[in-house]
Amino acid sequence: MRKFLIAGNWKMNAAPDAAYKLAEEIASGWKDNTFSSEALLCPPYISIPAVAEAFKGTAFKVGAQNVHTENDGAYTGEISTGMLKVAGCEYVIVGHSERREYFHETDELVAQKAKKVIDDGLIPIVCVGEVLSQRKEGIHQDVVQRQVDAVLNHLGKDESDNLVIAYEPVWAIGTGETATPEQAQEIHQFIRELITRHWGSESSEKVRILYGGSMKPDNAEELLSQKDVDGGLIGGASMKAESYNEILKISETI
Ligand code: 13P
Repeated sequence: MRKFLIAGNWKMNAAPDAAYKLAEEIASGWKDNTFSSEALLCPPYISIPAVAEAFKGTAFKVGAQNVHTENDGAYTGEISTGMLKVAGCEYVIVGHSERREYFHETDELVAQKAKKVIDDGLIPIVCVGEVLSQRKEGIHQDVVQRQVDAVLNHLGKDESDNLVIAYEPVWAIGTGETATPEQAQEIHQFIRELITRHWGSESSEKVRILYGGSMKPDNAEELLSQKDVDGGLIGGASMKAESYNEILKISETI
């Protein structure tokens, strides 16, 4: 049985009360707490303590959706890795396409965040992926290569155990349109080869590569069955306990 990372990204949804309820509902679907995949939910910052509380005594983990590169200081509105650790986070999503698009995060900044997260003992989930026009132009591999290289150039092969990359084709996010399993595998394999070029094959096998973009119970099995798909980063379908748990259950059968 493969060990997947099944991660939910709640984006700007679920205030602390709603987040606590949803987290409790998800965890209560696993009374005996036995699953071999790793299960992670990433609520908005303000709801992290509520979700951590709801997950106490369970195997579910909590993560953040973003972080700043400094430890503390005059950075109004920002949150540091240290704060996230105290709140119970183990993972941090970095460079989501929504942050790249709406908050102008560059490859360089995303790489700095990934490095900071690893240095401080958390695991970054670095998001990469092309927009529709880039896929239509046939330059999706170039785009993904630029995004992945920027991060790998800041890290060393010893950090491969603690690096997660999520391939999220932007045209598949929140659209109901999913990459075909073949499209996903092609890019996941390409990302694996890029890592091999930097760090060799032993290290590249250790990096987990997640697929994100309209993953749901209907398509999870065929996506997770691809050789280089090591898990999912799930938006909409992670907002309902039933569909998130269904995907987690599917991951247990592969
Ligand atoms: P959806 O699953 O809603 O398409 O969102 C994917 C995503 O952006 C996860 O980070």
